[in-house]
Amino acid sequence: MEIIDNVPHTPVLLNEVIDGFKDINSGNFVDCTIGYAGHSLEILKRYENINLIGIDRDDEALEFSKKRLEPFLDRVTLLKGSFSDKLNDKRINNLTGLLADFGVSSLQLDKSERGFRFDSQLLDMRMDQSKSFSAKDVVNSYSKEELANIFKKYGEAREAKKVAEAIVKYRENRIIKSNIELSEIITNSVRKGGKIHPATLYFQAIRIEVNSELDEISKLLDILEEKKPKGATIALITFHSLEDRLVKQRFRSWSKSCICPPDIMRCECGNNNNLGKELNRKPITASRDEIKSNPRSRSAKLRLFKFKG
Ligand SMILES: C[S@@+](CC[C@H](N)C(=O)[O-])C[C@H]1O[C@@H](n2cnc3c(N)ncnc32)[C@H](O)[C@@H]1O
Repeated sequence: MEIIDNVPHTPVLLNEVIDGFKDINSGNFVDCTIGYAGHSLEILKRYENINLIGIDRDDEALEFSKKRLEPFLDRVTLLKGSFSDKLNDKRINNLTGLLADFGVSSLQLDKSERGFRFDSQLLDMRMDQSKSFSAKDVVNSYSKEELANIFKKYGEAREAKKVAEAIVKYRENRIIKSNIELSEIITNSVRKGGKIHPATLYFQAIRIEVNSELDEISKLLDILEEKKPKGATIALITFHSLEDRLVKQRFRSWSKSCICPPDIMRCECGNNNNLGKELNRKPITASRDEIKSNPRSRSAKLRLFKFKG
């Protein structure tokens, strides 16, 4: 049935995700980050009675998914925009399942013209190319303190201040125009010797800032907390500890039956306040085989939550 051979992104934890939804029968399924439709295609094949709503803020991804899902288009609606915004669409009701596979796609990371790579001539990193705010704005207009703050907060980088200083000093003479330039400035100002490229955490921080990635996750969790979609299964895949922490903490709080203040002697809340249950206490991670064939899956963590019916 698959009509496209050259798919620029391999879905992570595919079997685990599909299994996680094994009890969905009908209703609407939302793929918040449809990307190249790797997960969505399998969901549509496996669950014949569900309708799928696919969201992405990247036009290139949506165009590809539209072609890839052609045999199923009578059951598919594609929406362009951020999931925090699109989840308020009226068509999203009767939710049976929701998937979000956060972060960037391999195409975004690999294609030099998207300006995510260290060796790109561009300084961009926008998932949504219709937005004007890009990495160029962050790097050239943020103050030293603002830069240091995002490097610390979103990169957990040890030499945040030093790198921020180096960027601001370089900027005194010329505008920073490319990732090549940025990566050189960073590499020249930090200690070397680790396993990863010295600019990795700083690039990650800028990317998170440009695309409001953590805010998007928090907003998604807020929307779910408010909607409490009856009986729906939620599967969220994260790629670094900052993302996973947000998901883990929220799933834990949704699972709590007792919401009395900790200093109270006896429960007064009815002990029935959980919104549902976590389907796995520990996150599901990729097998050795998967990591071997798709190294990007190494840092993937899948958490599942089921709302009460
Ligand atoms: C890791 S890829 C998803 C890959 C997809 N599961 C597949 O199998 O092909 C992440 C996708 O989510 C999109 N994305 C990330 N954050 C988003 C957001 N807040 N709103 C909408 N799309 C987002 C990116 O543009 C990218 O295409």
